[in-house]
Amino acid sequence: MAESIQSQTATTDPATDTRQALEDLGLKVNHSAVVGLQWGDEGKGQIVDLLTRCFDVVARYNGGNNAGHSVHIGDQKFALHLIPSGIMYPDKTNVIGNGVVVSPEGILGEIDGLRERGVTIAQNLKISDRAHVVLPYHKTQDLLYDLALARAAGDDKKIGTTGRGIGPCYADKALRSTALRMGDLLHPDRLREKLRHIVTIKNLLLGALAKECGESFEPFDADALHKTCLEQADRLRPHICDVTTLLHGAIDDGRLILFEGANANLLDIDFGTYPFVTSSSCSSLGVYPGAGVPGGTLSNVIGIAKLYTSRVGGGPFPTELDNDLGQQIRDAGGEYGTTTGRPRRTGWLDLVAIRYTTRISGVTALACTGLSVLAGIGKLNICVGYEIDGRRIDTFPADAEDLAAVKPVYEQLDGFEGPIDGCELFDALPGAAKAYVQYIEKFLGVPIPMVCVGRRRDQILVRS
Ligand code: IMO
Ligand code: MG
Repeated sequence: MAESIQSQTATTDPATDTRQALEDLGLKVNHSAVVGLQWGDEGKGQIVDLLTRCFDVVARYNGGNNAGHSVHIGDQKFALHLIPSGIMYPDKTNVIGNGVVVSPEGILGEIDGLRERGVTIAQNLKISDRAHVVLPYHKTQDLLYDLALARAAGDDKKIGTTGRGIGPCYADKALRSTALRMGDLLHPDRLREKLRHIVTIKNLLLGALAKECGESFEPFDADALHKTCLEQADRLRPHICDVTTLLHGAIDDGRLILFEGANANLLDIDFGTYPFVTSSSCSSLGVYPGAGVPGGTLSNVIGIAKLYTSRVGGGPFPTELDNDLGQQIRDAGGEYGTTTGRPRRTGWLDLVAIRYTTRISGVTALACTGLSVLAGIGKLNICVGYEIDGRRIDTFPADAEDLAAVKPVYEQLDGFEGPIDGCELFDALPGAAKAYVQYIEKFLGVPIPMVCVGRRRDQILVRS
């Protein structure tokens, strides 16, 4: 079993074609990043899985187990949250960078789940000693803050987080006095001391907040937490190291690194639809502080765009289809959260948003997913501009309230009939499906060498 999953590399190797396709398009096969260009769930896992064959190291640089990356191998689906998608290959090094926040419980659960299904995890997984640790009080804090916000300001102000404690952990990182890093787990005495003062502060704050929200609150016990952390540290010890030095060595040795973005550009802490965002730098700009590699390391940035839009949680969504068609897309696309199981909001493709994120991330090539979901739904709308107060704008507003007020301006394209999920060549797709992809390519001025007609490895059509 162990070998069977990780070695199920198709003999007709689409990655080789991809490598060739990237070269044909004038793109360098060198250190690269894959980033989501919308609000997440674009299908990053599938593209990372495909491209991994061209690289030696796969590195995560942001986010935590709020991410949910699906990899489909044969008829098996693997949902990855913290572990890079390159883990499905036995000979690749998988790295969790300093910019990631790691829940020891979460990652150990993921390791166990993968091992049970035949995935070998040993020295092929490295976790930065500088990565911050997500602990149970972060989850409590996450839930209480969203609750308190809803009570104080109304339900529509809720961020609708994944409840994984991600925001509070990044907040502690910035605060410093209440933060713990993975390296701390390896020093029992230091860890005990830190946990004692952190837990004192957390109990005071969370206790008061819980009381205000009318919620019950069981204070955290620093020594019990210390014991659990040490047990977890014992299991994680072989994986924890100075990942930045490892990456520098890989670069010096000419080994190629693929940086796997989690979450997505419109959820970026700086450039997303703030405050309805996550707490890390999800664009390609986050690669540098999140992994410790110098600016200019990336030669390619591959942006993943789903050919319609989805969003989970609160926040503005100009092209949302809150109707039967939206439900049809949700069902056809299986748009239910990998991490939380929540139904995702769905809508038309928004090229104003994607043009903005391709620029932020410096996208050099696009991979488009979800084409088969659009088959049989009739005419297809693409948002090409916004109207605000009767005025046309072509840029993406910085303010979430301004974005909530825009009216999308659509270009309508012909629809096409399916099924197309068995299609093996881009040229064999219905004319209107090809025209839809070509329209996007022209609008954005970025090549689209990969188009997915399903979620399996063999459903990625490589255009040369
Ligand atoms: P992947 O990697 C979709 C959203 C949450 C919420 C907001 C803040 O699978 O594409 P957080 O728990 O991060 O503080 O929640 O961000 N969100 C995602 N939505 N896919 C993701 O990741 C997401 N990561 C965060 O739903 O609205
Ligand atoms: Mg997700």
